[in-house]
Amino acid sequence: MGRVAPEENYLQDLNNRFQEAEVLDDSQVPIIDFSGDPKYIVDAIAWACQEWGFFQAINHGVPIASMKNVLKLAKEIFNQTSEENEAYNSLGNKLSDDPSEAYRYGSGFNNRKDEKAIDLKYFLRLDYSLARQEDIWPESPSCFREVMKKYHDQVSAFGHCLLDNISKGLGLENSYDLKVMGEKIICIMNYYLPYHTPELVKGLSAHSDPRAISILIQDDVGGLEVCKHGQWFAVKPVKDAFVVNIADQLQIITNAKYKSAEHRVRAHPEKSRLSVVAFFGPGLDTVVGPLPEMVSEKNPPLYRECVIKDYLTQFYAKGLDGKRSLDYVKLDHGAKV
Ligand code: OGA
Ligand code: NI
Repeated sequence: MGRVAPEENYLQDLNNRFQEAEVLDDSQVPIIDFSGDPKYIVDAIAWACQEWGFFQAINHGVPIASMKNVLKLAKEIFNQTSEENEAYNSLGNKLSDDPSEAYRYGSGFNNRKDEKAIDLKYFLRLDYSLARQEDIWPESPSCFREVMKKYHDQVSAFGHCLLDNISKGLGLENSYDLKVMGEKIICIMNYYLPYHTPELVKGLSAHSDPRAISILIQDDVGGLEVCKHGQWFAVKPVKDAFVVNIADQLQIITNAKYKSAEHRVRAHPEKSRLSVVAFFGPGLDTVVGPLPEMVSEKNPPLYRECVIKDYLTQFYAKGLDGKRSLDYVKLDHGAKV
């Protein structure tokens, strides 16, 4: 199964642990029904993006069979031997911190040897755009290419539908093409290991995602948590739903009207857990900053402009640390957001 971290590497210091008592249940995390009235969908998304930066989507149009196939494929991948999985690293670019590389398999956050208290998980990252363009797909499991190509087309259709609705909610249809925020799609499969005493370890450290929006399938184990105004909420699995979260670039272009949600994963005492996330973001050369439509004299820009490639490089260098990545572009008077 790959590099298994020695126990002392994933046990967390007392002041670093996720506190069980601080988490509320999920009764308030918004659920949006995409089979509803178009106006309701636009308004519900706009509200959720402002208040939570986070929601679950049901009746989203992506075939459930396809979501199940993706989870099944992920399960097969993480059941392979470590040699088989490490072979993914030679597809496309070599192992490096380059955010544009095609494939990376590893453990912890980014398979870095210098990670201290590492997250108790394995991951396979694939750059969908590169894999499609260069036609680089692994040969095993044998259904990889077929399942992932099909899912790519379906999840990108849903991602673009989301961006379209977000654009309407912000009133940007005639001035800015929000499709820019979904030009590049990265997919990460996560495999979380069980741990008999979950409070001693982390499944995934608290962070916000660095791109624009993330669309996630989780299995039925649970453990994902989202932070709203300093309060953590459990995001319990909803049957056939996607979990959607707003990421840093949408917070930046909306000048913090929409929130990039901080989230994390708690380990389960007995069960392993799978998730598959599609991250939508701009191309690497895109310059991103608050849109003129979103700033005014009363509401001055909170962030400076930045090339996405540089933003991602600092994200991977810094590691997962709440919403600290945004500090990289924050202007002085934006210190609090
Ligand atoms: C991520 C992430 C959550 C999960 O990969 O960025 O937040 O439930 N994953 O696996
Ligand atoms: Ni995330």
